[in-house]
Amino acid sequence: KDTYLKFFESKGHKIIPSAPVIPENDPTVLFNTAGMQPLVPYLKGEPHPEGTRLTDVQKCFRTNDLDEVGDKTHHTFFEMLGNWSLGDYFKKESIEWSFELLTKQLNIPVERLAVTVFKGNDIVPADIESAKLWMAQGIPEERIAFLGEDDNWWPNMELTGPCGPDTEIFYWRSDEEIPANFDTENENWVEIWNNVFMQYMHNPDGTFTPLKNKNVDTGMGVERVTAILEGQTDNYKSSIWKDIIAKIEEVSGKKYDDEKYTKFMRIIADHIRAVVIILGDDAKIMPSNKDQGYILRRLIRRTIRYAKQIDIAIDSDWEQELAKLVIDEYKTYYKELERNKEFILDALKNEKTKFNRTLEKGLREFEKITKNIQTNSIDKDTAFKLYDTYGFPIELTCELAEEKNLIINGIIPVFSIVFTGTGNKIMIDLSFQQAVMQILVHIQEEITFSTIDNDSQIAILYLINLIDNGMIIPYFLVRFIFSQ
Ligand code: ALA
Repeated sequence: KDTYLKFFESKGHKIIPSAPVIPENDPTVLFNTAGMQPLVPYLKGEPHPEGTRLTDVQKCFRTNDLDEVGDKTHHTFFEMLGNWSLGDYFKKESIEWSFELLTKQLNIPVERLAVTVFKGNDIVPADIESAKLWMAQGIPEERIAFLGEDDNWWPNMELTGPCGPDTEIFYWRSDEEIPANFDTENENWVEIWNNVFMQYMHNPDGTFTPLKNKNVDTGMGVERVTAILEGQTDNYKSSIWKDIIAKIEEVSGKKYDDEKYTKFMRIIADHIRAVVIILGDDAKIMPSNKDQGYILRRLIRRTIRYAKQIDIAIDSDWEQELAKLVIDEYKTYYKELERNKEFILDALKNEKTKFNRTLEKGLREFEKITKNIQTNSIDKDTAFKLYDTYGFPIELTCELAEEKNLIINGIIPVFSIVFTGTGNKIMIDLSFQQAVMQILVHIQEEITFSTIDNDSQIAILYLINLIDNGMIIPYFLVRFIFSQ
């Protein structure tokens, strides 16, 4: 992080602090999902008080990969390094400096690098200029791939707001011989940096007009790049996670390398770090049943459940110890963590105590139910009873059922309806209330109301009624109610 920030400082950039992970002035998103998000007003043309060249490390959080956390590379919270030109330098400097940082400061041999550039479409021509600039740096032609808008346009052609073509930098992470030609399908090539040449405004009427300024927006994921530079294919084996994993090993008495526990430890490590960062924001979000509070609650609950799986004594102070470690490791960059230390630790403890009671009871009931069933499914009334009578979260029932290869009455078809098309984006970017509305619209688009059974019709009407009355409903509940 220091190498990056200092490098861009030497190129005339002001180092600015990370914006909060909970957006301050943007009600359309729950969390900051990219380094540029807090800078949107300035990318649109408003003058930034620190000038036209900025660099930072930004706290980012994404929930779209939640189910994948537990593998080697996915995280909920992550840090993104970025440098920006607000109508100042453009492609030439951006490419030259990226190349200089990677090859001179981080000492990456040029043979290990490849890039993609935009191949053009009906609206914007191919980015030949960037390809030429890369070649001038010494990237051979066969290591430059021209790709379409799915790969080399940011954020994407559908979303409105500032946007533009980008050039992505890839690193060859394997010991195998490096092929002369850059094949983007080869998984040994991993993307490490994205330079967006943000020069268009995608207007709500669908048109693309030139922005007042030609901007540069770049993003480099700290977790990924650290693992790569340290020669690790498992992110959690990099120096970023070393102490957190060691602490989890200590409080559980288990080993990370024991396959039985690896996944659980990764989830605990990822979630505890995310929880500390979210609680640490000055917004002082508390675990609750809506918006960011709901995500926070879900993360804490998952942490506790997986802590149980690796035999951590839940009543001990394990979560306090872990949280303190995270605070210490991140407070240099995020000073608010020190300021809000007590708040973080108290909130975590209270939620743990509350959830532990529910969990004990719910898990007992779940075991009882699943012991006696003859089929591979749990009926939805039983699952609902767990929620209704014992306060056991629906998503936990879903997760437990999945672990035991049990189905809760066709939850999968509904899930796929929600997550097709733009569904995925909806979940990431909108508040739950909006998400519920979107689900309804989506479902109405896919299936006509009159062709679904009575129970579902009643459920939908019931939901609409609740929403009309201002009730906010976690989408997992919605997913559940709609299951047939
Ligand atoms: N905004 C760009 C990204 O997040 C740099 O990839």
